[in-house]
Amino acid sequence: MSPIETSMTGYFKAHGDLHYVFYGGKGGVGKTVMAGATAVWAAQQGKRVMLASTNPVHSLSGLLGQDVFGKHTPVSGVDNLWAYEIDTKDTIERSKQEIRDKIQWFLKYADISTKAEDFVESATMNPAFEESAMFENMIDLMFKNEYDLYVFDTAPTANARRLLGMSKVYSLWVNKMLKSREEARSLREMLSFTKKKEADPLMDYLVSFRDRMGHARELLTDPEKTSFFFVTLPEALPIAVITRFIGWFHDFGIPVGGVLVNMLIDSSQVKDDAPDFVRNRLAMQQRYMEDIWEKFDGMVRSTTPLFETEVRGVPMLQRLAENVFV
Ligand SMILES: Nc1ncnc2c1ncn2[C@@H]1O[C@H](COP(=O)(O)OP(=O)(O)OP(=O)(O)O)[C@@H](O)[C@H]1O
Ligand SMILES: [Mg+2]
Repeated sequence: MSPIETSMTGYFKAHGDLHYVFYGGKGGVGKTVMAGATAVWAAQQGKRVMLASTNPVHSLSGLLGQDVFGKHTPVSGVDNLWAYEIDTKDTIERSKQEIRDKIQWFLKYADISTKAEDFVESATMNPAFEESAMFENMIDLMFKNEYDLYVFDTAPTANARRLLGMSKVYSLWVNKMLKSREEARSLREMLSFTKKKEADPLMDYLVSFRDRMGHARELLTDPEKTSFFFVTLPEALPIAVITRFIGWFHDFGIPVGGVLVNMLIDSSQVKDDAPDFVRNRLAMQQRYMEDIWEKFDGMVRSTTPLFETEVRGVPMLQRLAENVFV
């Protein structure tokens, strides 16, 4: 087995200005518990830490054994640590309202007598809308910059990828839209008697959206400030999933912090007379560990054993943190 070149602790030491940490990986591999352990560890180092979840299905309250839904909540038992599950229903309602206002403004502007509601439904009744609302929530939190470190449970992998892939095209498109709207507006102004400038909420929206996305892109691609970590098990599918993610992220210039291997069966506990089932699983894990060392050479930051129970509550997170941050 190759040794770990740079551990989690080593990585965080070398990236003293890290502000945004994300965890990604296949379902159920331990993203939430690793995010929790990272947040607990960093808070114990004296940083003011926010552990946040933007998922519609939250698990931080369950993990911490306290209600952290809807507001920044101090975590009992850990100084300097706050947790926050964003109310996604609320955000979605607010985004819908914003869209409704814009569509109504536009219909009036263009003198079209159709009900806005038909358009609102088609613009908001799709999974991508919910996903974007979550993404906007996340970047709002990032922009506020009220903590030394933000740890996000579950990386918005597809979104980050889409955002960065699209942002160039998007910028071109918005600039073109802006130019033609600017031309239309000066024409209207020339033809009208009054010289007063018309309000143009759509244009304001396009400009602010372009700027927000540009800023998000800047933060998400800054290797001093941002790291995406990927959690895997020593098994085929989780390895395949993070291999794909890491490939995308390299292509888009998003900083990859490294790979955390979780739920390793401790071989010292498996004696020769252990049941076949256990010995087979151990042998399988050992085979996949060879793949992991080879595939993610120099990127593995920690290996964590499969504990005898699930990881819940602060004391268990502390135990996990001691294991991950050696
Ligand atoms: N090293 C470990 N030992 C024992 N149990 C673990 C370990 N790591 C995680 N678990 C348990 O495995 C389950 C899945 O972990 P977790 O919820 O963190 O995964 P996830 O990747 O966030 O899942 P999801 O994709 O559903 O969000 C939880 O019950 C957790 O307590
Ligand atoms: Mg989770």
